Amino acid sequence: MTQDSALLQAPETDLRDGSNNRKVFIKTYGCQMNVYDSTRMSDALARDGYEPTENMEEADLVLLNTCHIREKAAEKVYSALGRLRDMKKERNREGREFMIGVAGCVAQAEGEEILRRVPAVDVVIGPQTYHRLPEALRKAKEGQRIVDTEYALEDKFEHLPIAESKKIRSRGVTSFLTVQEGCDKFCTFCVVPYTRGSEVSRPVSQIVEEAQKLVEGGVREITLLGQNVNAWHGVGANGQEWTLGDLLYRLAEIPGLARLRYTTSHPRDMDDRLIEAHRDLRALMPYLHLPVQAGSDRILKAMNRRHTAAEYLMLVERIRTARPDIALSGDFIVGFPGETDQDFEDTLRLVEEVRYAQAFSFKYSTRPGTPGAELKDQVPEEIKAKRLERLQALLLKQQQEFAGSCVGKTIELLLEKPGRMPGQLIGRSPWLQSVNVDAKELQIGDIINVRITGTGTNSLFAEIAEAEV
Ligand code: 5AD
Ligand code: SF4
Repeated sequence: MTQDSALLQAPETDLRDGSNNRKVFIKTYGCQMNVYDSTRMSDALARDGYEPTENMEEADLVLLNTCHIREKAAEKVYSALGRLRDMKKERNREGREFMIGVAGCVAQAEGEEILRRVPAVDVVIGPQTYHRLPEALRKAKEGQRIVDTEYALEDKFEHLPIAESKKIRSRGVTSFLTVQEGCDKFCTFCVVPYTRGSEVSRPVSQIVEEAQKLVEGGVREITLLGQNVNAWHGVGANGQEWTLGDLLYRLAEIPGLARLRYTTSHPRDMDDRLIEAHRDLRALMPYLHLPVQAGSDRILKAMNRRHTAAEYLMLVERIRTARPDIALSGDFIVGFPGETDQDFEDTLRLVEEVRYAQAFSFKYSTRPGTPGAELKDQVPEEIKAKRLERLQALLLKQQQEFAGSCVGKTIELLLEKPGRMPGQLIGRSPWLQSVNVDAKELQIGDIINVRITGTGTNSLFAEIAEAEV
């Protein structure tokens, strides 16, 4: 983990044209928190005259917002940086400005190493200091190369601007909102506690204000984000200690905010108040991403998950009792060091019991600096690959069964974007599925009743059931 901040002198000549109308291309890797951060960085850069572009060719600044969760992700970043270095040479030859920034978890973890491997990079900035990005770029323009991977004492959210209504509107009717960052759980496979630091919760007033602004800008569904979102806690309006459930009750009061979600949760932080919120709040969508990672108690212990398979199953039971139509999603790792065939069978058995609507599964990837990397009995790649194939086949079957079970049901659909066919719109079901519907008279942002008529590969088909709700 790199925590230092360093200013290095750049050897290259300055070829900037001094114009104020610049374009930034942001490439986002990894999780939804990075998607949210990219939006916030884009808003901060807009104040300095940077317009976002989808076309790298016309960009004056390319910013990679990186992910470090698995090995390949970092390698992808380095190969992208190799291509950008060549592009920069080309541009500089033409006398044009071209800057390269690296943000996100690879920036945090690798710090100055990035400059050593790719000296063409101008700015390396960690997730805690995004509010300083415009200043870092200004310094870089003056010829310095900046590495800022501090855990800033000031609250970056206090300094990052919230976009104006018009801009929010242009981004659609669903939005992310980070409420918590970092993690204190120290699962033995995971780099997050090292790259994102310890758990920090944003204050209630900041979250409510941002949610209100999003709703004023036309947002109808907000997904609260956090590496450990259900560890969020804060002080409520009445001075009482609040947990995520309380925050959801408060946000559900915002007029016009039709839907709420949150991700990602740890089983140990699913407290009673949060389960009650699932029971009581119509706005809280019946969908829960609740990673278990493995189904064997031995492996769960080695992973430092601090719960057993039986405890997870009991928790699922309680949540389903509170909200019977809830769909569950999860993350799984196969081939954690020491995982035997029997341990893997236990994971399959747990999956059979839970019946997931959706899931993400990965081969264990050794992350230097984590306790898992030190463990003996690393599982051979071929075995990991075989286990992953079996697990994914089972999870896909469950996903298809879940989609199939929706056919014939009438559900509420939030219309999100135009479909591929004229007159067709794509909406989001309460269970986070994409649903295609012919809806000529209706508008994006409407919530309508539809009847599901069929399933596609990754989406559902529906017809309008009755008037708008
Ligand atoms: N190897 C494989 N998968 C990992 N994840 C986190 N760290 C690793 C790793 N070292 C997975 C976990 C987590 C998800 C975001 O990524 O399943 O929940
Ligand atoms: Fe990583 Fe575990 Fe924290 Fe999730 S709970 S971010 S897997 S350490």
